Amino acid sequence: MLENAPPLLRNFWYLALPGKDLPRGDTANLTLLGEPVLICRGDDGAVFALRDICPHRGIPLSYGSFDGAEVACCYHGWRFGADGRCREIPSLTPGQEMDVSRIRCGAYPCREVQGNIWVYLPEKSARLPQADIEDLPAPPELPNFGDSAPQVSISQVFDCSADTAAFGLMDPTHAAFVHTSWWWKKNATKLRLKEKHFEPAPLGWRMKRHALPPQNRVYHVLGKGVTTEITYSLPGLRVELIDGDKHRAAGLTAITPINDSRTVVHQALYWTLPWTAPLKPLARYLANVFLTQDRRVVDMQQEGLAHNPSLMLIDDADTQAKWFYRLKREWLRAAEEGRPFENPIKECTLRWRS
Ligand code: FES
Ligand SMILES: [Fe+2]
Repeated sequence: MLENAPPLLRNFWYLALPGKDLPRGDTANLTLLGEPVLICRGDDGAVFALRDICPHRGIPLSYGSFDGAEVACCYHGWRFGADGRCREIPSLTPGQEMDVSRIRCGAYPCREVQGNIWVYLPEKSARLPQADIEDLPAPPELPNFGDSAPQVSISQVFDCSADTAAFGLMDPTHAAFVHTSWWWKKNATKLRLKEKHFEPAPLGWRMKRHALPPQNRVYHVLGKGVTTEITYSLPGLRVELIDGDKHRAAGLTAITPINDSRTVVHQALYWTLPWTAPLKPLARYLANVFLTQDRRVVDMQQEGLAHNPSLMLIDDADTQAKWFYRLKREWLRAAEEGRPFENPIKECTLRWRS
């Protein structure tokens, strides 16, 4: 039986948006875990994130303007820098001495890694001291891709909780039924027995590296002996690494809650094959087809969930969803008890037909 979803996880980096969607001198206002966030890219190319609420009278700063270095509020023109501190209050007259830098709108740790902009969401309304910001773990990074940006990235908003979206990521038996199409797989008649080996990974688990089945011909472009491993981790990340003897590819899927009932699913695809620019529109199209199928099934599911039914997780098809819940519970409990997180996942083999 499924329990009520635990709260949205804090003290994690969340993928806010692909870096290519934010040009220099531009801003993007988003809601992350229910909080209004204004992400800015300065004229120098660096990104920063502010709480999108003016501390003077509460109007969102995103209604104001950005000159490539500072954000000016649209109401009375107070200006804020990348550190979230006030730089200027235009109404002050000579003699009205006041240390405006003590006024803050609040800033979130924000970093761009491999072409994605990540924002760190601390405990609610906590203001991280500068030293703690410097000590934060780095945002997630794909191994062996240096600082390359994704070849293709797509994002879709799902009208569901982050847990429901995350379950879709780690659900190995829906694909045969949901991801069908006339040109790909017409129906679910040919289910095959799958047996995969799993091991614990930092803040999650990993489907151990294994050879791709020979029917996946598209991966032959990566060379011979193509293998893959898939890692799932909190707060809702899936990283698939596919390596051949000539080239490699990777997929990063990141679940970012807008609030308790809306979630963005980001997908970024990386590969090292050269001369593939003409194929990118096709890859983007296909990625969107698959993600739209996932989103549509979630939309239909919401009709049933609106009646608050009790739900089931079965072995072994839903074992990974059970692990996800266990990890979340352990993360919350460890934080509550002020002790290090202990990964509850043990090495094992799971079997299902899909
Ligand atoms: S409300 Fe922002 S400057 Fe007054
Ligand atoms: Fe799916």
